[in-house]
Amino acid sequence: MNPEVRVYKDLEYLSRAAAQLFFDQAEQAAHERGRFFAALNGGSTPMRLFQLLAEDRSRKIDWTLTHLFWGDERCVPPNDAESSYGQSRELLLDHVKIPDENVHRILGELGPIEASKDYAHVLKQFASPPLDWPCFDLVLLGMGSDGHTASLFPGSPVEAAGPTLAITAHYQDRPTERVTLTPSVFNSARMVLFMIVGENKALTLSKVLNDTHQPELYPAQRIDPKDGMLIWLVDEAAASKLPMKLIKTERIVKGKETK
Ligand code: 6PG
Repeated sequence: MNPEVRVYKDLEYLSRAAAQLFFDQAEQAAHERGRFFAALNGGSTPMRLFQLLAEDRSRKIDWTLTHLFWGDERCVPPNDAESSYGQSRELLLDHVKIPDENVHRILGELGPIEASKDYAHVLKQFASPPLDWPCFDLVLLGMGSDGHTASLFPGSPVEAAGPTLAITAHYQDRPTERVTLTPSVFNSARMVLFMIVGENKALTLSKVLNDTHQPELYPAQRIDPKDGMLIWLVDEAAASKLPMKLIKTERIVKGKETK
């Protein structure tokens, strides 16, 4: 793993940087391929980013060319407070002019096995051959304090043949039944963006980025795009246990860039 780690003062600055990367990827994909494929995540960390994308008044994103997918979903109905799709709907989708047919949610209400099968079919409809799934222009990911990412949890099989998996996992008091995309899908993306905030993730983050490769134990280590970019946006609290040598790019404090 050869990660690019960018450190920001707090969630606000980190989210603004993520929004800028989202705009840039959207613009480039629309220009080069006429479509922008993004996979969103759930959890608390991307909420501010979704608001910033929704508030964009400069129309940097052509939503008619944008197709949104999810990297994972909790198996609850879409209007449940725990639905990742529901959260994105409330914070982002309801505020932008994205056509309904461009929104490809995981049907959590079907339960993990059926929803996983159904989503594999959806991904196939947008596949970039020889892949059975789209080559995402941007994948957003978070990480739990246990090192999970999307719904790839410690102890789950590292290798997965297909693009989706049905998962049962316990993390905090969140829904246990889930569907996740597999590392093969994430690793074929053009850009993968991790967003990590909070001191409670500092130790795990330092292990994921600095320890030996233990992908069974630290699923976030399974993410290593073959040809795409892997960028970690981290706030100062989460970065507090990282060795300086890992922070390759600019250190951004209080919004000012310093070397
Ligand atoms: C989910 C996510 C999950 C999340 C991490 C971090 O929907 O639960 O897919 O992988 O990104 O658990 O969550 P926080 O951002 O809330 O810390």
